Amino acid sequence: MKIIMATWRNTVFWGLPLLLLMLVGVCSSVCVEVPSGTEAVQGHNMTLLCISCMQREEVFAVTNVEWFYQPRNGNRSLIFEYNEGKPRELLSPFKGRLQWIGSKDLQDVSLILHNVTITDSGRFICNVNRTLHFEAHQHSTTSNVEINLIVSEIEREDFTSVLSEIMMYILLAFLTLWLLIEVVYCYRKISKAEEVTQESVTDYLAIPSENKENCPVPVEEQ
Ligand SMILES: *[C@@H]1O[C@H](CO)[C@@H](O)[C@H](O)[C@H]1NC(C)=O
Ligand SMILES: *[C@@H]1O[C@H](CO)[C@@H](O)[C@H](O)[C@H]1NC(C)=O
Ligand SMILES: *[C@@H]1O[C@H](CO)[C@@H](O)[C@H](O)[C@H]1NC(C)=O
Ligand SMILES: *[C@@H]1O[C@H](CO)[C@@H](O)[C@H](O)[C@H]1NC(C)=O
Repeated sequence: MKIIMATWRNTVFWGLPLLLLMLVGVCSSVCVEVPSGTEAVQGHNMTLLCISCMQREEVFAVTNVEWFYQPRNGNRSLIFEYNEGKPRELLSPFKGRLQWIGSKDLQDVSLILHNVTITDSGRFICNVNRTLHFEAHQHSTTSNVEINLIVSEIEREDFTSVLSEIMMYILLAFLTLWLLIEVVYCYRKISKAEEVTQESVTDYLAIPSENKENCPVPVEEQ
């Protein structure tokens, strides 16, 4: 048991960082268009993830980014843009709370929305316009990412983790109780068998072994 625990601990302590290192290694060389999370918590910071991978990395490209916000019953409006190498926040309810965290190669053009409020719920649209400059001509590509943000007042994950912890304790208590009942049944059966053996010494060998075999089965009380 000790050896198993030690092995498990070693796997967690050394395996996890190694795995993360491998993932980082993979991520830095290969672009993956990971979808953004859509659930935010009031008062927390939310990453609005937008990744637009380049198909032709060897070609010189100019990337412009526009972030729009569209409330549930309204028109979309520009809230942030990245133009000619400069991030710019526009006048909107989000002004002062948006932070550009895009990568240098502009494959990752994500934002952080600070201090999320309930009224931030709605659709965020990330529009990436990339102009590829070939020797004789240029070619534009655009991509769209939509994030339907849902803001909740409390952290839902906390609740589920607490619930699973409670379930674990209930299960543990249940198992302990079951084991205890089993032990009590066995003890009573054996002591009963011993009473019988004391009365009839001739059956001494036969009864206890028979009783031991039937131990897990509850005894019918007379
Ligand atoms: C949100 O971001 C701000 C600024 O970076 C930081 O000071 C604050 O601690 C963050 N809040 C949470 C809940 O992570
Ligand atoms: C949305 O835009 C249309 C056309 O520009 C306009 O008529 C309408 O009033 C706008 N709606 C809202 C909620 O701003
Ligand atoms: C977050 O927003 C609320 C309501 O808009 C405000 O009262 C609070 O001071 C803000 N917190 C931070 C850390 O900016
Ligand atoms: C993308 O950018 C190029 C160059 O600035 C522009 O000509 C083109 O119209 C843009 N495309 C879209 C869909 O905005």
